[in-house]
Amino acid sequence: MAWSCRAIPPQAMMLLSLLLAAGSAVALPAMDGVRWQLDRINQRGPSLGLVMSYVDEATVLQASGYFTPWRVFPLLDLYGRRFHIGSVRGANVIYVLTGQRRLNAAVTVQTLINMFSVSGIVHYGTAGSSNDSVSFGDVSVPKLVAHTGAWTWKKFKSPEESSSAELRFGEYNIPNRGDNLLGSLTFRNEELYSVGKPMQEVFWLPVDSVWFRIAEQLKVKLERCYDTFCLPATPKIVSGLRGSSADIFLDNAEYRKFLFREYGMSTVDEESAAVVMTTTSPGIPVIVFRGVSDLAGGEPSWSSTSLSNLATINALKVAVEFIATVGK
Ligand SMILES: *[C@@H]1O[C@H](CO)[C@@H](O)[C@H](O)[C@H]1NC(C)=O
Repeated sequence: MAWSCRAIPPQAMMLLSLLLAAGSAVALPAMDGVRWQLDRINQRGPSLGLVMSYVDEATVLQASGYFTPWRVFPLLDLYGRRFHIGSVRGANVIYVLTGQRRLNAAVTVQTLINMFSVSGIVHYGTAGSSNDSVSFGDVSVPKLVAHTGAWTWKKFKSPEESSSAELRFGEYNIPNRGDNLLGSLTFRNEELYSVGKPMQEVFWLPVDSVWFRIAEQLKVKLERCYDTFCLPATPKIVSGLRGSSADIFLDNAEYRKFLFREYGMSTVDEESAAVVMTTTSPGIPVIVFRGVSDLAGGEPSWSSTSLSNLATINALKVAVEFIATVGK
């Protein structure tokens, strides 16, 4: 007997489509075949999650020899991201390249936390400096980071608020300050959802306070040279400063000054606030190490790949020392 659509009564058709819908909701096809691998990896015990956002930052880690892959399962691919299972200085580590900017950073960190047994997130990478006392190759361990990419963009000639710093475009007109039809903008708070607490509106997101105190004590010899390129002085670790994050590659001297003047922000990057916020929600510790690769538009254009490699290596060195300390 040949089946044709006409032969199936409408009630049976409906039941069939319900069954198909239920099947796809329950089975999570993306997870088929990886469950047992995840279980096996998680049986190893908790790991520190190590996350970076640029391909070059992962390349530097691979070339450094700090990371030893786990023989049993060196890697697992989930949702297009590659999770590397292994260890750093004796501590279990799972590292993953998140991709750039906050959406990539957040979903990758969320996946890491959801799928693996993770005891904390260590984030390293490069940053632009917006503080004239923080220079090339220095590594910032911020205490607070904020997302500066959410704005209220106000009407032309709307009255100035006293409560929050306003970026008024007219003040940047040349040759003279004046009015500008673009008006002004102010930063908005983030909505932080976290376990066991009602939603909070926050601007500043702190890194873990216990981890911060450990990171503050680290003594690491930073690099001054990369290849044939050398900085005039040996870089330093600066801790306790404020960092900014937005889905913006900042290369503008005036906006850089604005962030420093109005908010005391010393670094700019595109991911750290997202990493901190995603990790804060479930209450897992997080720490950020960002090496200065450029001055976010404040420099006479001499940014280079040597500089960004140097900045990455320095940030990684501090992250590795941190992992060795908390891994004990
Ligand atoms: C700028 O950086 C220096 C460290 O190099 C620090 O002492 C100073 O407090 C920073 N400024 C602000 C506003 O954070």
